[in-house]
Amino acid sequence: MCGIVGVVGKAEAAPLLLEALRRLEYRGYDSAGIATLVDGHIDRRRAEGKLGNLAAALDRSPLRGTTGIGHTRWATHGAPTERNAHPHSTRRVSVVHNGIIENHAELRAELEAKGAEFETETDTETFVRLVDDFLANGLPPQEAFAAALKRVHGAFALAAIFAGHPRLLMCARQGAPLAVGFGEGEMFVGSDALALAPLTRRIAYLDEGDWAVVDGEGARFFDAAHNAVERKVVVTAVSGAAVGKGNYRHFMEKELHEHPAVLGDTLRQYLDPKTLEVRLPRLPFDPVRVPRLTISACGSAFIAGQVGRYWIEQLARLPVDADVASEFRYRDPPLAEGGAAILVSQSGETADTMAALKLLKHAGQKVLSVVNVPESSMARESDGAVLTVAGPEIGVASTKAFTAQLAVLACLAIGFGRARRELSTLDEGRLTQALLQVPSHAAEILEKDAQIRDLAAEVAKARDVLFLGRGSLYPIALEGALKLKEISYIHAEGYAAGEMKHGPIALIDNQVPVIALCPSGPLFEKTASNLQEAAARGGRIFAFTDADGAGPLSRFAERVIELPKVGAFSTPILYAIPVQLLAYHVAVLKGTDVDQPRNLAKSVTVE
Ligand code: F6R
Repeated sequence: MCGIVGVVGKAEAAPLLLEALRRLEYRGYDSAGIATLVDGHIDRRRAEGKLGNLAAALDRSPLRGTTGIGHTRWATHGAPTERNAHPHSTRRVSVVHNGIIENHAELRAELEAKGAEFETETDTETFVRLVDDFLANGLPPQEAFAAALKRVHGAFALAAIFAGHPRLLMCARQGAPLAVGFGEGEMFVGSDALALAPLTRRIAYLDEGDWAVVDGEGARFFDAAHNAVERKVVVTAVSGAAVGKGNYRHFMEKELHEHPAVLGDTLRQYLDPKTLEVRLPRLPFDPVRVPRLTISACGSAFIAGQVGRYWIEQLARLPVDADVASEFRYRDPPLAEGGAAILVSQSGETADTMAALKLLKHAGQKVLSVVNVPESSMARESDGAVLTVAGPEIGVASTKAFTAQLAVLACLAIGFGRARRELSTLDEGRLTQALLQVPSHAAEILEKDAQIRDLAAEVAKARDVLFLGRGSLYPIALEGALKLKEISYIHAEGYAAGEMKHGPIALIDNQVPVIALCPSGPLFEKTASNLQEAAARGGRIFAFTDADGAGPLSRFAERVIELPKVGAFSTPILYAIPVQLLAYHVAVLKGTDVDQPRNLAKSVTVE
């Protein structure tokens, strides 16, 4: 899941490409590079590591030229070295690529047999050598590019420039997003509208299998069967303003502090504070008639989906299967006739979730996506979309987008419950009222920052950490563990508290902090007993609870952090905040790269 950009412009291309890459760095930061056409020849600068290194390389040795391509890489094939960094070039052509060319080994063998000499271990270079081979055999660029496309399998977005063709850029999309931007006498391509927003708001999205010939004046589009097609130009709503950190040290910290505003904005979309009713947009299925629902997503978005499953089953009595998208797409589950699905994604571009979308549609299921990016592939290709109003999330670890997903799923669960007559108007009013109080409770929780930072000092010393929760807080235990792992690199696991005695309790000793999510309420006694079992074996218990739970837990817990007392329904949204905050403070204490943790990328557009 790399980021790609391209320009056929009027001004120097390199600074524009670098700025666009800054807005795409969330897609990968292993290496970066830019190639331009200088007096008809291909020239390039590349650098290992973050974009800052490429910027320094360009300062040392600027690149001229008004036509160019750029890339920020999340390594798939080949180590993240400068040599493997994109663009990959021959004398004739230079290419940037996001995705995977699956038949690269076979193509490489074929080209090597013809005498091609490869410089890198990347799958991308096979495409470059393939185009180069067609060019060497006399095909013009457009035909060489189109002929090479016919030979490659996999999921990719590609952009290429050609020596001796100063106003030409070719691009293609198959399974990875790509947008063409229309300027005045200049044209752009990019992995998303965010990259292009400061350059132009007029965007045409390539459809699956499309490719395009872009020059300074416009673009000609072709579909997978190589027929000329029209693609609609839309004015994107994405802002071109730079997203800054404000007074915060990290984007993640800023985004954590945006919880109250984001939750308020999201809930306001779907709840009427006067009538206390849920107002859902038009759904692509009727929740009354649907026999069964599938929820699928990846990572934190899947964890949100798991909470959604608890809510929808409890409030609407609608059976739900929840599956991680990477498993769902190959599991071949029997799907109910007339069934429907909910996909959850911040980016709306995650490859596995997109594959689940295609599979579900193919199986005749109606698909509703819960997404944060309104123009994303998922939003466009689903039968309906419900938006989270989280704004751009830059920190790689999801925070505010996760709680916004929970807020939307909570509204859907209430809406389904009402429609299916499982909830009375009174129930609906009680639940929506609880949700309407969530933003102010979220603000109260953020005031516990100092206590959570103190707890982080203990957790930062550990090698392994356990998170425990029950019911709809079990997924939040998973979220706590995932967040801690990904940004602090401490090994952590989330368990359903009742599962402890079936194995994980063997891990307990005085070195393993146990973070308990244990609000008062119907499951309190059960969870508290599980925690006592751990404490009895020397476990160090650190509990998040409320005023009613604090007393009993203090008898054996080393530390208790008191959160606002709320009904069980809204606890998953609120308890997600302290576990995310804890992971943040642990990461800061450990000195890791909080916003861009190692080996990760924000938008995972490869399988
Ligand atoms: C974890 C995290 C990831 C994403 C996952 C899905 O903090 O951010 O696990 O949740 O990669 O991404 P989206 O939501 O864009 O589909």
